[in-house]
Amino acid sequence: MRAVSIVGIGQIPVSKASSHTLRQLGSEVVKMAMEDANVESVDALFASNMLADELQGQKHIAALIADEAGLTNIEALQVKAAMASGSAALRMAYLAVGSGEADLAIAVGAEKMSEGVAAPALAKALDVEHEVAEGATMISKNADLMRLYMQRHDVPEDGLINFSVNAHRNARNNPNALFQDKPVSPRTARKSRVVHHPLRLLDCSPICDGAAAVVLAPSTEARAYSPHPVRILASSVATDRFRVEDRKEPLWLEAAHLSAQKAFRQANVNIEDISLFELHDAFSIMACLLLEAVGFAEAGQGWRLAAEKRIGLRGEIPITTMGGLKARGHPIGATALYQACEIVLQLTDRAGKNQVRNASFGMMQSVGAAATTVITHILGINSDPT
Ligand code: COA
Repeated sequence: MRAVSIVGIGQIPVSKASSHTLRQLGSEVVKMAMEDANVESVDALFASNMLADELQGQKHIAALIADEAGLTNIEALQVKAAMASGSAALRMAYLAVGSGEADLAIAVGAEKMSEGVAAPALAKALDVEHEVAEGATMISKNADLMRLYMQRHDVPEDGLINFSVNAHRNARNNPNALFQDKPVSPRTARKSRVVHHPLRLLDCSPICDGAAAVVLAPSTEARAYSPHPVRILASSVATDRFRVEDRKEPLWLEAAHLSAQKAFRQANVNIEDISLFELHDAFSIMACLLLEAVGFAEAGQGWRLAAEKRIGLRGEIPITTMGGLKARGHPIGATALYQACEIVLQLTDRAGKNQVRNASFGMMQSVGAAATTVITHILGINSDPT
């Protein structure tokens, strides 16, 4: 494998209901990312989308977006891993450039959740035969985990609310965030309506539309494309037993643990080296359990990182620095590409008011269903390309 860097980024504001079609959303960010990298074409495009075949009745998204962006005759493939699809597309682009199969590749994610009813389509990431048949949804699964966690670890009723408060605070300085203008106080979060006990509205990521993309090139050539390239130091995937019920310990996300450990080894960094963590806070309980599985907190202690305000921009481990899934928004297939763009901005000192000081290594994780598939990437500054 040769070293791979991100040399261009493109992201558009997440919205409640975009007036653009899915192909327009995708092609817009492809063009933005290519313009940022100063290129007019790429060898390969890997597209991420979870719901279009259900909500728009459209399959074959990669070739569709490539065509709309004027990239005919290139390799264009769709990559799917439920809610982790964006990271799966990033990984495929990374492998394509790393292996030498492509010299320039783009990973793009686009999702339009505002058309149709997203919840039943999202639930199909679970076991349709055994879980969905019994009425399970992503919301009910996460509510179950949250209830169990709070009971077992004696967490106060408002113990997790700071995940939401922190995310909404950071979203205020992100022009691409859905909830840029929606500050959330601890009181508002505590009083928000119960969606599925004990899960409240402000524990959930929203239904929304969005798109983001990154261009990858070999690190040895990265500066020909960008004055501030960022290396992909690790890319790893792990899976768990498909259903939470089949796991020895429902509150331990083994796939997140394994994929993080693998990523630390690949990147040759330790957890202490990570400057910021864009985690998959689709629900506040998921943020909490990921912090524990990756090793930022002991099992049962993740909620304290939030409650004691240690996850802020100046905290011991800054998370969701641009609003995260909770407040930037979680347009499923696009989410991980937003995370990648945000880490690039952080590592190149372009994160504005939300800049994390001395940011050198950024970690991102994407979660498919209830952490059945977890994909981890670690990005670093491209100072020493090999
Ligand atoms: N956080 C904060 N505010 C939210 C919100 C959220 N997650 N979801 C909706 N809102 C706000 C809307 O902006 C709207 O505010 P407004 O009246 O000021 O415009 C208001 O709440 C009502 O919005 P609405 O869309 O009618 O809410 P809803 O009840 O239909 O949806 C949820 C709320 C939580 C059910 C929905 O956001 C949801 O399903 N989230 C989970 C999505 C999911 O499972 N993703 C995959 C995870 S892996």
